Amino acid sequence: MTAPFLHIRGLRKDYGIVNAVKDVNLTVERGEFMTFLGPSGSGKSTTLYILAGFENPTAGDILLNGESLIATPSHKRNIGMVFQRYTLFPHLSVGENIAFPLKVRRWGKAAIDARVRKMLQLVRLEGFEDRKPAQMSGGQQQRVALARALAYDPPVLLMDEPLSALDKKLREEIQHEIRRIHQETEVTILYVTHDQEEALRLSDRIAVFSKGVIDQIGTGPELYADPATRFVAEFIGDSDFVTCRILSAKDGRADLSIGAGASISGVPVHGTAVAGGTAALMLRPERLSLRREAAREGTSGLSASVTDITFLGSSIHVAAAAPSGETISVRLPFGHEATSGLSRGDTVSLDFDPETAHVFCG
Ligand SMILES: Nc1ncnc2c1ncn2[C@@H]1O[C@H](COP(=O)(O)OP(=O)(O)OP(=O)(O)O)[C@@H](O)[C@H]1O
Ligand SMILES: [Mg+2]
Repeated sequence: MTAPFLHIRGLRKDYGIVNAVKDVNLTVERGEFMTFLGPSGSGKSTTLYILAGFENPTAGDILLNGESLIATPSHKRNIGMVFQRYTLFPHLSVGENIAFPLKVRRWGKAAIDARVRKMLQLVRLEGFEDRKPAQMSGGQQQRVALARALAYDPPVLLMDEPLSALDKKLREEIQHEIRRIHQETEVTILYVTHDQEEALRLSDRIAVFSKGVIDQIGTGPELYADPATRFVAEFIGDSDFVTCRILSAKDGRADLSIGAGASISGVPVHGTAVAGGTAALMLRPERLSLRREAAREGTSGLSASVTDITFLGSSIHVAAAAPSGETISVRLPFGHEATSGLSRGDTVSLDFDPETAHVFCG
C-alpha cells in the first residue's frame, strides 16, 4: 500500500497547562483542498503551525510521502504559507517580495525574473512589480503574499484565515481566485477559516475542529447531510434542536415522540440511544414544510405556533414555537402559498422527511 501524501498522526500540543491540540489525525491526498473549520480556540492554527515547523508537537507525527517532517527545520520543509494579516516586507517592492524565497534558494537572476513574471500573471497583478505593499489594497497584498508563497512551487500550501481582514465582496473575489489558482497549480492546500460559507465554497473536504480534536471530516454535502455530532450539525448549515423522547432505537434509526403529540419513526440516530431517554432532534429550516393546521396523527409533523415572519428577499423565514417552547425556523420560497395571510399566533404543522432529520443522544 502506498503511503498517503500527507499524514497527521496523533498530534498533540500543550502550552504549559493549556492543551491546544488534543489528538488530531488526518490524511490529505495530493492536490486536495482541505479546510480546517472550527470556532476560535479549537486548535486550527496550532495544527497549521506544527505543519509549518513553527512549533514542535508535544506528541504525534507528520508524514509527507511516508517520511516524518518533525526533525526537519521550518525553512527546509518546502511548505508555503500565507497568514491572516499582510506579511509582505514593506520596504521591498512587489517583485522583490515574490523574488525573496527564490533568492534564499539561490536561483539565478534570469530564472528569478521569469518566475516573478509568471507568478504576477498567475495572481493577475501584471504591471504591479515596482509598487510597494503600502501602495496596494488589502486584497492585492494578499494576492502578492499568495504569489510569494507559491513562487518556489511548494508541494503544500498552508493558509491561515488569509481573507479575514477583507470585506465581503473582496473576500468572495479572492476566494474565486484561490479556487482558480488551486486548479491551475494542483498544489495541495490546507486552509484555515471559521467561516462555513468560505469552507464550503473552497474545499474538497472539510475537517471540523472542536476543542483540539477533529469531530468529523468530509465533503460539504456529506457533513450537511450526515453530521456525526450535534456540533457539526450546528456548524454546517442552519439547524434548530427540539427536545424529544426516544421510544425505541435499532440499526441506527430511532422512533421518537415530541411533547404529548406526534410520534416519528425512522430518524437517523447518533450516540447511544436509550429507550425512555431524552435526546435532541435536529431540524433544518429549508427541509421543513408548513401546513396551516395542527399536526395529524400518524404524520411526521409537529404542531407549532407562529411567533415571527420575516421577509428576506428570495425567501420567507417563519419562526414557530414547539409545545416545549423551543423555536423552530422554516425557510420557504417567496410567494409560497402557505405564507399568504399567515400571522403570528397561527397554529401550523411542520412536516419533514424523517431521513433528513437527525437525533443526537447524550
Ligand atoms: N503560544 C501559546 N501559548 C499558550 N496558549 C496558546 C498559544 N497558542 C495557542 N494557545 C491556546 O491554544 C488553543 C488553540 O489555539 P489556536 O490558535 O490553535 O486556535 P484557533 O482554532 O486557530 O482559533 P482562532 O479561530 O481564534 O484563530 C487556544 O486555547 C489558545 O489560547
Ligand atoms: Mg487561528
